[in-house]
Amino acid sequence: MTELKVLIPREKIAQRVAEMGADINRDYAGQSVILLGVLKGAAIFLSDLSRELRIDSTFDFIGVSSYGNRPTPAQELKSGWDSTGEVRLTKDMDQSMIGKNVILVEDILDTGLTLTYLKKLLMARQPKSLRIAALLDKPSRRKQPIQADYVGFSIPDEFVVGYGLDYAEKYRNLPDICIVPREG
Ligand code: IMP
Repeated sequence: MTELKVLIPREKIAQRVAEMGADINRDYAGQSVILLGVLKGAAIFLSDLSRELRIDSTFDFIGVSSYGNRPTPAQELKSGWDSTGEVRLTKDMDQSMIGKNVILVEDILDTGLTLTYLKKLLMARQPKSLRIAALLDKPSRRKQPIQADYVGFSIPDEFVVGYGLDYAEKYRNLPDICIVPREG
């Protein structure tokens, strides 16, 4: 693996996550929310975002795995996932969401297939409201017309790691968001 290039340094991430938290505090003033993180990539983002909230909040996690042909790490780096958009839950949330405000917390919105599927699945559980907070957004890769309600950074079509995001399960612990060079 050639060396990683920093795209978004930790200070900028912290500043933006604080702003997103402030937006959520304002939008849900006087209400409570469940932050629902999508494992594993959103774990670090959720832990920082949750500590910016001053409203009544709890958090929970959902685990998903995509059907379709899982690419090798090299293919994933080159052209991303060739997913069918069908998602299997590997871990469900622990609490009921009926009548609750839920914010689905995701590391990155790429093709949009995963979140489109999850949103439909979760809406059937009758939350009071369901919004999406995505730290990163790659709008140029979108295959489904879905948008996040809270977006940290819009980024170009690069494969990124760090701050929870992985390449073959590595690099999740990097404090900065870095680009993995495609020729490497
Ligand atoms: P989507 O269904 O294509 O929107 O898939 C989103 C998921 O793909 C994310 O939760 C990540 O797990 C993964 N993903 C997409 N782009 C990247 C990337 O640049 N780095 C690491 N994982 C990515």
